[in-house]
Amino acid sequence: MPEATFHFPPDFKWGCATAAHQVEGNNTNNDWWAWEQTEGHIKQEHRSALACDWWERAEEDFDRAAALGQNAHRLSVEWSRIEPREGVFDDAALDRYRAMLRALRERAIEPMVTLHHFTNPLWLAEMGGWANPRAVPLFERYVARTVEALGEFCDLWCTVNEPNVVAFLGYVDGIFPPGQHDLGTAMAVGRNLMRGHAAAYRRIHALQPQARVGFAHNMRIFDPARPPNPLDRLAASLQSRSWNEVFLTPLERGRWMLPLGFGLAWRLRKTLDWVGLNYYTRDVVAFDRRASQAMFGRRFHLPDAELLDGGYGELYPQGLSRFLLRRLARLKLPIYVTENGIPDSDDDQRPRALLAHLHQLWWALQGCVPVLGYYHWTLVDNFEWAEGWTMRFGLIEVNPDTQARTFRRSAYLYRDICRANAITPEIIDQYAPELRAVLLSG
Ligand code: FCB
Repeated sequence: MPEATFHFPPDFKWGCATAAHQVEGNNTNNDWWAWEQTEGHIKQEHRSALACDWWERAEEDFDRAAALGQNAHRLSVEWSRIEPREGVFDDAALDRYRAMLRALRERAIEPMVTLHHFTNPLWLAEMGGWANPRAVPLFERYVARTVEALGEFCDLWCTVNEPNVVAFLGYVDGIFPPGQHDLGTAMAVGRNLMRGHAAAYRRIHALQPQARVGFAHNMRIFDPARPPNPLDRLAASLQSRSWNEVFLTPLERGRWMLPLGFGLAWRLRKTLDWVGLNYYTRDVVAFDRRASQAMFGRRFHLPDAELLDGGYGELYPQGLSRFLLRRLARLKLPIYVTENGIPDSDDDQRPRALLAHLHQLWWALQGCVPVLGYYHWTLVDNFEWAEGWTMRFGLIEVNPDTQARTFRRSAYLYRDICRANAITPEIIDQYAPELRAVLLSG
């Protein structure tokens, strides 16, 4: 009996995603570095410190990515290195990024460059960061300078990573800098980040007509705890609206959506050549009239949910195809999965999780959703923001003290999928035989 092989399109992009502050090391001139210095901000008082030493040695990990059969990589550039003081640009920093991008090209790895991935230069943070509307033109100017310098090696740009995470974690939960708890400011930050995206989109196209520009949106599934219960459904849909929808709909319709904003947002329309999906997990939501701070939703996990390391949430691969098929397909744009992965230091769940997510991606492709590539989060363990080094997302393990690398089994699994451009029965049998019955039944 011939068995099913799940093929991916011929020119599909397979890579990993990283972010400057998490891998470069010694990013001393941004708000995150400053935040790390205060006790209690980062788990176990970890620091980014040398991170993965990419500022000096990124090429060694690019070699590893190439050896693993990857043909794409998403990385970010650090604003505080490129513009260390307001209006002062550092050509040496831009040269270093040019060298990194050239190194990727030499290895036949297509770069996607993210222009803002969580960190702000200290001088911007001191003027209020993205709560200050001046951040928008300042961002645009930095983007222009960066695109001029790097455009020879890159035409695939991601303006802003996860504006919802920046706004909510920095200004509502307060676990990211600047550690505030103010919904009004959070929403102003969110709107300014979206305006920054739109300004960058237009500026990049003026400089590089062939550019392909998008942003990376963190989407989280919120399912009602008891699906027939109208109050649970309402609570779940309010959560989904304020996390997933309010950052997407204005780009589609040119109108803000509450609670992010109100009224016209004309300049946001037509500012996407593609959309990026960062997908990790889901929450189940029950109506709770005491939870007025959380829009009357109590978030938890079902008793039979498979949980991830460190309280990261539920392993829920179906969420990936649900977002692709039911939500992002409606945008009628090319899609990249710009991030997806799990924290799993002993790699006991990741092989199965990776296969299950990629199978969901394949399923969405069968529904003609135009997904062009997948960037696994991440290549090497790195500094996981407020979680420090406690959460390990890498295909490759890193010891931050010695910089030693150790390939996890998942690295080889992903290599075999990238090389085959498919999920084959042999791959399933070798790495996660327990999935055979699920993926190959019938
Ligand atoms: C995403 C971030 C990324 C990393 C992963 C685990 O929200 O974009 O930098 O922290 O989560």
